[in-house]
Amino acid sequence: MKTKILTTGAADIDEAAEIIRRGGLVAFPTETVYGLGADALNEKAVAAIYEAKGRPSDNPMIVHIAHAEDLKKLAVHAGADLQRLIGVLWPGPLTVILKKKRCVPDRTTGGLDTVAVRMPENDTARDLIERSGCPIAAPSANISGRPSPTRAVDVIADMDGRIDAIIKGLDCRVGIESTVLDMTEDVPVILRPGIITADRISEVLGRKAYYDKALYRKPESDDFKPKSPGMKYRHYAPEADMLIVKGKEADVRKYAEKLRRQKEAAGIKTAVLIFEENDAAKAAHDFFSALRDLDRAGTELIIAGALNTEDQIGFAVMNRMIKSAGYNIIRLPDGAEKIKGE
Ligand code: TXA
Ligand code: MG
Repeated sequence: MKTKILTTGAADIDEAAEIIRRGGLVAFPTETVYGLGADALNEKAVAAIYEAKGRPSDNPMIVHIAHAEDLKKLAVHAGADLQRLIGVLWPGPLTVILKKKRCVPDRTTGGLDTVAVRMPENDTARDLIERSGCPIAAPSANISGRPSPTRAVDVIADMDGRIDAIIKGLDCRVGIESTVLDMTEDVPVILRPGIITADRISEVLGRKAYYDKALYRKPESDDFKPKSPGMKYRHYAPEADMLIVKGKEADVRKYAEKLRRQKEAAGIKTAVLIFEENDAAKAAHDFFSALRDLDRAGTELIIAGALNTEDQIGFAVMNRMIKSAGYNIIRLPDGAEKIKGE
């Protein structure tokens, strides 16, 4: 398939909208990561997304809308709490899970009776949805398992030749996917952490929002029962092997540098990836693009420094980093300098 590369100009967005209306696939920028969009109410179009991504078909999609009022067409409204939440946090990187209405096909929700809905803040994204005249189902526009794309070049690398068109916009502002919040139970529960934190949601709602316990477990453990099917799969993985080092920052830097020299001496192309302390939002912005740049440079091993998970944005980045590394983590005891097995 020949993939059209489109700009964010009005005529190009019209062309992209026409492709969506016909049941085609268009990748487009959002403020979080690039999405791979299709008409959310067209089962065949949604099936084509799974195909293009190579994605397991029980993993449900987020449905993107251009106006908050469109929510009631797709989902059973959860009342005053939800109204307050979306009044403050939409448009933006927050996805809400609600009971779905019949018009949303099973294909879109992976057979669940709930639907994930989000109103992006990115102008191009909203423009595309509006001109398409339908809600747009869109997972991240990467091949399943790879790091999410936060720049047009990354989308082109994964999707060129697999989909109808790619809208080349700016780099994504946030860099990690939206916060997914389950509003179907008595208490609001975050199924996927993001830049909108539990504290922020609690503040807006005036009552406490929680993180799903599954976010603290490894998939291999017996009690790993995530409500969000996407949490089960290996995710965000670079081609390089990856090791996370956890400990005091100075120790981590020393350890990582020492290990890098050893690996390099053994002929393994190794990179150290350590983010500025105290700027988790910047780490969120840079994380996926850094993995893709390191892969492009032919890196064979990435040694990454863990972020502080007491910071809720740090926690959101670590949720991705841990999966990127396939749970390959070492913890340095305080003051550690020796490399294990040395
Ligand atoms: O920022 C984002 O959310 C991006 C951009 C493109 O908007 N989209 C995105 O989609 O990250 P995706 O498909 O890569 O991730 C959707 C997540 C998955 O973890 C999925 O399991 C969960 O949302 N999800 C979707 N529908 C759900 C539902 N009904 N119940 C529970 N989890 C759901
Ligand atoms: Mg994804």
